[in-house]
Amino acid sequence: RGKRTVAVLGAAGGIGQPLGLLMKLNPLVSDLRLFDIAGTPGVACDISHVNTQAMVAGYAGDAELEKALKGCHLVIIPAGVPRKPGMTRDDLFNINAGIVKSLCLGIAKHCPKALVNIISNPVNSTVPIAAEVFKKAGTYDPKRLFGVTTLDVVRARTFYAVRMKVPVKEVDLPVVGGHAGITILPVFSQVKPKKQMSAADIDALTKRTQDGGTEVVQAKAGKGSATLSMAYAGALFAEACLKGLEGAKGVVECAYVESKVVPGISFFSSKVRLGPNGAEEIMGLGDLSDYEKKALEAMKKELIGSIKKGVDFAKS
Ligand code: APR
Repeated sequence: RGKRTVAVLGAAGGIGQPLGLLMKLNPLVSDLRLFDIAGTPGVACDISHVNTQAMVAGYAGDAELEKALKGCHLVIIPAGVPRKPGMTRDDLFNINAGIVKSLCLGIAKHCPKALVNIISNPVNSTVPIAAEVFKKAGTYDPKRLFGVTTLDVVRARTFYAVRMKVPVKEVDLPVVGGHAGITILPVFSQVKPKKQMSAADIDALTKRTQDGGTEVVQAKAGKGSATLSMAYAGALFAEACLKGLEGAKGVVECAYVESKVVPGISFFSSKVRLGPNGAEEIMGLGDLSDYEKKALEAMKKELIGSIKKGVDFAKS
């Protein structure tokens, strides 16, 4: 029987519901806590009927946050609002930044040792916000805080497999940088299995990965953004964290963490080795192609700006 307690905050949402289901299927989980401002008793009851061993409980509203968080080993946060037509990026930023801040205050108080996986966008800013909240509370450990960029990895692998005609199961490919637009950089010079790629292949696949979110928004025609693929990616990264906690060897995933990999950029996604304490090692970038070096240069200003925006918000 699994022995880990996992909470999903925002569990009644488009990402949260399938993410809760996927965590119910994970044999490493003993207790699954589903928290949202409303609706979680129903979602929890529904998911609890699935015949796997994890026990499921639903918690709704601020008054139940403490119960949802007490004793958690891992907290996954997809709470927030997705971008709706007519909403500016700033509107979205202010709402989600406030939600992440308040949930992280709860984590600092009720389960300060838990690993925290942040999905709420804009991840480039919400992770620095969480770090500031934890610092202020005196509970910050950079090894335990992660922005989930796994959907970029999942997309880049899928798109590479389709375009280059290789079995998708065999594709291994790091994606580095941040989690929005040009800050997303798939490192095709390190892809496995390696196929001869033209400059047009590299450019098209890089852009398709960077625009993956928009591709879904447009296909959903104003009715939402990526939820099912994001839930899958969130579950994949959560599983890597749980395996790390169990002491499994060689668990490596890309994640957005406090980092010294690129001088001047304090949060950055690169390969991270996961272990009993969370991020045991943040791995370097390895050799990059000229195309990738240029892309890295091009993202710097935006990424540094997004990090600063998060830090400023948290301090205000
Ligand atoms: N505490 C807990 N849950 C909250 C809070 C809060 N303070 N505020 C909002 N939520 C919940 C909502 O009630 C809703 O159930 O978060 C859920 C979000 O679900 P959706 O609106 O369906 O949004 P979703 O598509 O799941 O995206 C959520 O993830 O990728 C990001 O940009 C996306 O930031 C957005 C987030």
